Amino acid sequence: MSDLADLPELLPDPSDRPDAAGLPRHDVADLALAAQGRSRIDWADRAMPVLRQIRERFAAERPFAGVRIAACMHVTTESANLMRALAAGGAQVTLCASNPLSTQDDTAAALVAEYGIATFARNGIDRDGYYAHIGAALDAAPHYVFDDGCDLVNILHTERTDVLGGVRGGCEETTTGVIRLRQMAAAGALRFPMVAVNDTDTKHMFDNRYGTGQSTLDAIFRATNTLLAGRTVVVAGYGYCGRGVASRAKGLGAAVIVTEIDPTKALDAAMDGFQVMPMSAAARLGDVFITVTGNRDIVRREHFAVMRDGAILANSGHFDIEIDITALAELAVEVPRRVRPSTDEYVLADGRRLLLLAEGRLVNLAAAEGHPAAVMDMSFADQALTAEWLHTAGRDLIPGVYDVPTAIDKDVARMKIETMGIEIDTLTPAQVEYLSSWEHGS
Ligand SMILES: NC(=O)c1ccc[n+]([C@@H]2O[C@H](COP(=O)([O-])OP(=O)(O)OC[C@H]3O[C@@H](n4cnc5c(N)ncnc54)[C@H](O)[C@@H]3O)[C@@H](O)[C@H]2O)c1
Repeated sequence: MSDLADLPELLPDPSDRPDAAGLPRHDVADLALAAQGRSRIDWADRAMPVLRQIRERFAAERPFAGVRIAACMHVTTESANLMRALAAGGAQVTLCASNPLSTQDDTAAALVAEYGIATFARNGIDRDGYYAHIGAALDAAPHYVFDDGCDLVNILHTERTDVLGGVRGGCEETTTGVIRLRQMAAAGALRFPMVAVNDTDTKHMFDNRYGTGQSTLDAIFRATNTLLAGRTVVVAGYGYCGRGVASRAKGLGAAVIVTEIDPTKALDAAMDGFQVMPMSAAARLGDVFITVTGNRDIVRREHFAVMRDGAILANSGHFDIEIDITALAELAVEVPRRVRPSTDEYVLADGRRLLLLAEGRLVNLAAAEGHPAAVMDMSFADQALTAEWLHTAGRDLIPGVYDVPTAIDKDVARMKIETMGIEIDTLTPAQVEYLSSWEHGS
């Protein structure tokens, strides 16, 4: 049920005004790509049955009637289906990109021309254009925001305080964004409730692990066509993403080395059968380096100095700060050469060639298509249901970072296994009684 009586109407909404062609506000690369984009969005939709069910219910119940949502996310076929679900629920949605290299231009075109969703995203846009697009999304004066990495929330609190007062809450998609939000909340800077969608089991246990695991390797193959069998892959960070990447690389026949700073994660990697060592040692051994730490300066000058000729460098962490590209460029004796799409070759003074993929940005989104739709089905079902919850039960929350209610997480898991044809047991009354008592012993 939506009740907008107390939602502030700060600004006249510019995205209400279609242009001469009847299209919503937009800045996309080429509207002629819309038909191709639609066909790819439909293809993703086939693998997203949970989100589809939610979209159908939203279309019937219209929980977001009169609500404006601004989303800053990777503009892919999967997020397009999330935008469709929110729009079906009555929301007026404006989308901008959360990364300059992850935008699928055909998807962006289809969102505008086929689905009437205001969209600001062009693949390869420069830094100024990237932030101008976030600004354009915020011009819609949103009631709720969806973020992936916290850039939009950051801009709201620094440069766009004119629309800050109208925001009632939002959802954050990724680990790095949640970390930034918690820092904002601890500093007393966060001005509205944000829900850490990343932290649901149905998101990070599957999206971060299986999604990043598969799509990161997919991107490395598309960019280099390299063979992993018999090669040494160094995975920096053994969190949810790192575990997925390491296990997939192992499955393809690579010898996997893990680097970590957390003793428990290092132990986990060791007991999963991987070699664990510092980057200073791994740098000499690796053929392929994959960073997924969410931290900066993981692969540095001293590591480049000892790497093998032909070493491949890829990052799947949220920002392009994990591989020290400035140091790599300083070590190079020539201007880097684009030897294949998404692959830049840096030649060092002794003739060794190091291959940087996707300019050090999220490789799985920049050099491939991001996670498969089947896994984003759960992440975006979480997002859609969390937004509905925020707009109803969550409306009295004070500023801070909140967990998604467990009931939503379990609902998404239940719906997903049902769509996969999986049945599970239910507790018997005796089991319920046993689990809630303390008297039973040996
Ligand atoms: N590529 C994608 O599509 C995608 C998907 C989900 C998350 N992410 C991003 O990937 C990053 C990792 O996410 P996660 O969910 O695995 O986080 P996580 O917190 O579960 O894991 C990160 C791991 O990196 C380790 N680490 C930190 N600094 C390190 C260092 N200097 N050397 C080695 N290890 C170090 C931590 O100890 C931790 O175990 C984040 O930036 C997240 O936003 C990317």
